[in-house]
Amino acid sequence: MTANRHTPFPNGRRQRIFVTRALPGSPESRLGPEFEVVRRDTLDVPGDAAADADALICVLADTIDAALLERLPLLRVLSSVSVGLDHVDLAAATAAGILVGHTPGVLVETTADLAFGLLLAAARRIAEGDRMVRAGAWQGGFALDAHLGRDVHGATLGIVGLGAIGQAVARRAAGFGMRVLGWSRGPQQVQGVERVGLDALLARSDFVSVHVALTPTTRGLIDARAIARMPRHAILVNTARGGIVDEAALADALRSGRIAGAGLDVFAQEPLPANSLLCALENVVLTPHIGSATVATRARMAEVAVANAVAGLRGERLPHCANPDVYASRAFAERSQRARNTSGDTT
Ligand code: GLV
Repeated sequence: MTANRHTPFPNGRRQRIFVTRALPGSPESRLGPEFEVVRRDTLDVPGDAAADADALICVLADTIDAALLERLPLLRVLSSVSVGLDHVDLAAATAAGILVGHTPGVLVETTADLAFGLLLAAARRIAEGDRMVRAGAWQGGFALDAHLGRDVHGATLGIVGLGAIGQAVARRAAGFGMRVLGWSRGPQQVQGVERVGLDALLARSDFVSVHVALTPTTRGLIDARAIARMPRHAILVNTARGGIVDEAALADALRSGRIAGAGLDVFAQEPLPANSLLCALENVVLTPHIGSATVATRARMAEVAVANAVAGLRGERLPHCANPDVYASRAFAERSQRARNTSGDTT
């Protein structure tokens, strides 16, 4: 291989960026000749081109566990095209000296839009009405007592998690004249949001929208006990992660009328199996994990993910790093040295 004037490595090796999906807007196509970009749609093949990756750009459907990281001895940057990192063993990456990048910020407003869309759809039974009209089941024309939903304006919204997305949902709620309650482990005071304990939030809210990250402490946070605290007319919205809500308990509550409805974009298992109990219920609106899925936002996420990967390989700070302690770690220094000493293209 000929030496490249851009390479930081004296031996002329081009650093390899392995990408597991076609990226919206193809920002990776602008990386040559400084980097070699390799794209495969799977990481499941041990010993494939990923083995020599200096950086890996992945999505949340890729499971990045300790066993996979062990197969990647040159990897210094793992860059996920997502804000959530529950698909990544962050502790293993940190211990191994691998920087982990993600894409907060750029998807905040788009995800808040979807949360509010699900809230409106569930409250006003929009998806259910659409199904009815298409099926030719709209009998008898306009009726005063048919298909009645709940008012969103003037109602109380409880926001579980007052991070950037939770705050963006609160701004939308203000536009609808809603009273907003908020619960968060952090100290955030958000204008227009009354901070309350989680139990009080569940008990006092007509709508509850979930915006915490999935961590060992938030897994199952909205379980049967929590759902039982909600009023019978309440509607639950989840655009965060499926594992935060106990799906079986929720399906039970929706079926029995313990709560009135739900809008869900995320599930414990994705894709949601068609035989899930949730799919059989009319009072839940289901979308296929599309919180950030707009043309502009996905392109921005891809740009940030590429910027994270490139910064790490150039020895610069990642714009969004989830484990900045790695920069000062011995494991990172060793990896960087190993990558520098590796001469060639082995695939
Ligand atoms: C979407 O769920 C994300 O984490 O980016």
